[in-house]
Amino acid sequence: MVADACFTARPSDIVVATLPKSGTTWIKSLLYANVHRREHHPATAADNHPLISVGPHGCIKFFEYQLYTRNRVPDLDKLPDPRLFATHLPFVSLPRTIATSGSKIVYVCRDPKDHLISQWDFANKFRVMNQLEPLSVETAAELFCAGLSPFGPYWDHVLGYWHAHLTRPQQVLFFRYEEMQKEPAAHVRRLAEFVGHPFGVGEEEDGVVDAIVRVCSFEHMSGLEVTRSGKTDLVIGTVENSSFFRRGVVGDWANHLSPETARRIDVITAAKFMGSGLVLASNGQ
Ligand code: A3P
Repeated sequence: MVADACFTARPSDIVVATLPKSGTTWIKSLLYANVHRREHHPATAADNHPLISVGPHGCIKFFEYQLYTRNRVPDLDKLPDPRLFATHLPFVSLPRTIATSGSKIVYVCRDPKDHLISQWDFANKFRVMNQLEPLSVETAAELFCAGLSPFGPYWDHVLGYWHAHLTRPQQVLFFRYEEMQKEPAAHVRRLAEFVGHPFGVGEEEDGVVDAIVRVCSFEHMSGLEVTRSGKTDLVIGTVENSSFFRRGVVGDWANHLSPETARRIDVITAAKFMGSGLVLASNGQ
């Protein structure tokens, strides 16, 4: 509400939008490395590269967790263009000037079952930290199917951005985590085109695209010192950066969900997405 009242978006702003545990850390890294590739060459990314010194969540901050917290109004006017922000808010709840100013939005959606397992594991780390019993996966799935999720029901969140993408494809880019895993370089190129800085022939020949893929990869990012021992202050508490990295694979849900629960989620997803034209990469719906 504070951001809605006080934030003034610019057409040059780029906002990463995701549900938690859908690849936020990854897309933040890819976007930052992409936009800043001239001053911070990804092939020689060393300690002075912000992704390596402060990590993706220090480079691109969340409106609701890091900027507009506790009724604070941060001074964002002095930030140079393009300003990069992140949010987990549903499309309908975004500060209104984002839509009206023509800022760009990069949305990443993930298979609901993998998202659920990742969210369940992350939430349990918090529960244990706060001396609460961990939730069983069955309870987590029950809450998920009832739409009781952080930032609202999964399906409403995804469809909100999907419809925005269909209506304004130049303003809202829509990625799927599973497709990013399959073809990371193609997504890095699409991201660069979307933000108005496609790769030149020289950059292609220099292997800049592959260097961005490599520097932002799970293997590279999870091994960094800023990940292994760094922390990020979010309004919900101080989070160890390592908690944003678990396995980073597609289909890990099969190790945790019963076939019945998986089927139940697939049936709900098929019904919710019916007629929307949205196809999830992982299960062909
Ligand atoms: P898993 O829990 O399935 O491993 P978020 O960044 O939105 O919190 O999402 C976290 C999920 O993305 C975790 O999934 C994490 O392992 C995965 N992830 C983090 N960094 C990644 C990267 N560079 N490449 C691929 N997946 C990544």
